[in-house]
Amino acid sequence: MKKFKVCIIGMGEFSDFFIPLFKSHPNVSEVSICDLIPERCDAAIKKHGGITRVFKSFEDLLENGKDIECIALFTQRHLHGPMVIDALKAGKHVFSAVPMSTSIEECQKIIELVKETRLTYMTGETCYYFPCAIYCRNVYNEGKLGKFVYGESQYYHDMECFSYAFAHSGGDNWKRVAGIPPMYYSTHSISMIVSVINEYATKVSCMGYRDNHEDGIFGVGKNNWDNPFSNETALMQMSGGGIARINEFRRVGTGHKPSSYITCLYGDKGAYEGSVTQHVLIKGVAAGADSTHIDYVSDLVNTKHYVEEQKAGALGGFNIHEDPISEPSHRGFAAVHDLSRLPKSFRDAPHTVHYNSHPYLVDDFFRAVVTGKLPPNNAWDSARYMIPGIIAHESALRDGLPMDVPDFGDAPANWEKLTFEPIDYYEE
Ligand SMILES: NC(=O)c1ccc[n+]([C@@H]2O[C@H](COP(=O)([O-])OP(=O)(O)OC[C@H]3O[C@@H](n4cnc5c(N)ncnc54)[C@H](O)[C@@H]3O)[C@@H](O)[C@H]2O)c1
Repeated sequence: MKKFKVCIIGMGEFSDFFIPLFKSHPNVSEVSICDLIPERCDAAIKKHGGITRVFKSFEDLLENGKDIECIALFTQRHLHGPMVIDALKAGKHVFSAVPMSTSIEECQKIIELVKETRLTYMTGETCYYFPCAIYCRNVYNEGKLGKFVYGESQYYHDMECFSYAFAHSGGDNWKRVAGIPPMYYSTHSISMIVSVINEYATKVSCMGYRDNHEDGIFGVGKNNWDNPFSNETALMQMSGGGIARINEFRRVGTGHKPSSYITCLYGDKGAYEGSVTQHVLIKGVAAGADSTHIDYVSDLVNTKHYVEEQKAGALGGFNIHEDPISEPSHRGFAAVHDLSRLPKSFRDAPHTVHYNSHPYLVDDFFRAVVTGKLPPNNAWDSARYMIPGIIAHESALRDGLPMDVPDFGDAPANWEKLTFEPIDYYEE
């Protein structure tokens, strides 16, 4: 069994979920950590234990951690591109939290480096393993929806609820970063449609909501991008001829859990529709039904925990503000999740946020590093999740002008794709 040394960079809120997974994956020999803020490394060591080495900065790691083969990047979203490029140049396999980058040139450079070095690169796109995306991928690949004609997905992160995340590491000037154009974080919403239909955006037209809120985060001169919009809505022409509607909202009065989901995915033979925790599969007349037939599939797509609590009638008094930990609708595995492919220790992962997608992402990464095969959410996929959003913001600044979306093509055809059979040593 091959084993690798990994360094996790960025000891903020998100990596805290991942440290136990990296530590317990069978293909990991040692875990090091790294942050500019020493107290964050101290806190991580105290909480998780079993940390081999601590690096003072990403630069320190490149200089003094030459024996470390893999890095997992959890720094702030606008820092990823240049760090990934430096890490690939240093010969390291890279797992990067989303987004890939907010610059088209950096996305292109990452693709070129991955092609040249054949190192593993993937983004930790949590929405790839959201049950609605898995369910839609399954029924789409089985042909149940026919050819894609229209889909809607969104990512809602209301600034009232999530400004703390920017303030947490951002210092006095955190608002200048919090005002990043919403479409520069389009990866969750776009990936849910792109990863299902396996197409890419060719054209985009986007409108923005000009924000006047007293918190002063959005507006010309108020943030690093002179971005006036807190909400952006894009229509995208997809490569197969269908249309996707993507919402990226930062000023919206919904406490929806999850914050990203697919509202609908229509094909010419059938459809998926989802609303809060109700999910249906519709079989159309074109698929051979006498009349339109509706299957209620919520028990497959909702978390097992949620389904159990619902059946026991235990959800009535639930209040996310009083008890966020027990919030069941986006914590834990759903019936559509394949547990048999995961290492044994991962199958008992606690009911954690993002539908327990984290164990799948970590496992994809090490399967790819071990086999040299191409993981989902690789450089080519990740660019297709991000570049349409970068162009969408340009369109919004020009009052919705339709604009072409550059595309860097498919991954090389001779790079075998990863598969997910159970592995013997995962049972130990
Ligand atoms: N669903 C998801 O996929 C999801 C959810 C949350 C966060 N994220 C992503 O995860 C990443 C981290 O988010 P977070 O909320 O934990 O951020 P955070 O601000 O809490 O933590 C980032 C950490 O990186 C450290 N850092 C920055 N530059 C560094 C350097 N040069 N060397 C070493 N350390 C450095 C900072 O000191 C900070 O502690 C972000 O990119 C975010 O977009 C993704």
